[in-house]
Amino acid sequence: MRNKVTIVGSGNVGATTAHWIASKELADVVLIDIIEGVPQGKGLDLLEAMPIEKRDSAIIGTNDYADTANSDIVVITAGIPRKPGMSRDDLLNTNHKIMNDVVGKIVQHSPNCILIIVSNPLDAMAQAAYKMSGFPRERVIGMAGVLDSARFRTFIAEELKVSVENVTAFVLGGHGDTMVPLPRYSTVAGIPITELMDKATLDRIVQRTRDGGAEIVKHLKTGSAYYAPSAAATEMVEAILKDKKKILPCAAYLNGEYGIHGLFVGVPVKLGAKGIEQIIEIKLTPEEKTALDKSAAAVKELIAVINV
Ligand code: LAC
Repeated sequence: MRNKVTIVGSGNVGATTAHWIASKELADVVLIDIIEGVPQGKGLDLLEAMPIEKRDSAIIGTNDYADTANSDIVVITAGIPRKPGMSRDDLLNTNHKIMNDVVGKIVQHSPNCILIIVSNPLDAMAQAAYKMSGFPRERVIGMAGVLDSARFRTFIAEELKVSVENVTAFVLGGHGDTMVPLPRYSTVAGIPITELMDKATLDRIVQRTRDGGAEIVKHLKTGSAYYAPSAAATEMVEAILKDKKKILPCAAYLNGEYGIHGLFVGVPVKLGAKGIEQIIEIKLTPEEKTALDKSAAAVKELIAVINV
């Protein structure tokens, strides 16, 4: 049987996620939006690329949630993106309303799906979706760590002039200015990067990673990043659909792990067919733990505003 993935939001992130998923033939794709015509047009356009790509993924665009029924995974990208000068947190109230509306409809038609949340502010939106859905925490996952780690990996590879394939990296915490890149757990061919570059270089790369989203917004002026965010969501989709048991940094609802209770924060998790199959607790130094707590506190502040 074919897998079915619904993508909510046919803007740049949603449409590009559909593109990656279809071109990897991971699933049939339903692209849904409240805007009439855009999901239909982009869906059909992508479908017509499949003979060239030699892929049999079926793609439809729709405004009707009935078409999303029985999806295995639903990726939610709906919401307004940042404009220059805005922080992800400025999007809070508008995107919370959109999230509640979307999740209510999704749950009605796909009660057994796994939700991947991409809308910003990421951790707060994941928490809102979790509360609204009533799903177990295994089935509500926030995309952020994969993106932030990919940016960190890009800058490390560029700096050391090595293949991106040699670079692994971990970024934990909330997807915001307080995110916590972990150089000690970031390696090039197994060698910790702390042994390969001096502190000033490392600090510069860490800061560029934290500002990675804003750097793209500054260039684009009318929107935010979408190639890397959608590639990150697609890696999560693939890990789940193929039951890969892949360890990736994702936003997960913590119930005491890392000493954090009742809050979505980015941590390493194992992704497989059931969604989050394990939350992995790595040892942190006191400084790293303080940074993670600070990041969790920032998420908590947002959660308090929308009361979820
Ligand atoms: C970014 C936005 C999408 O990090 O959060 O690019």
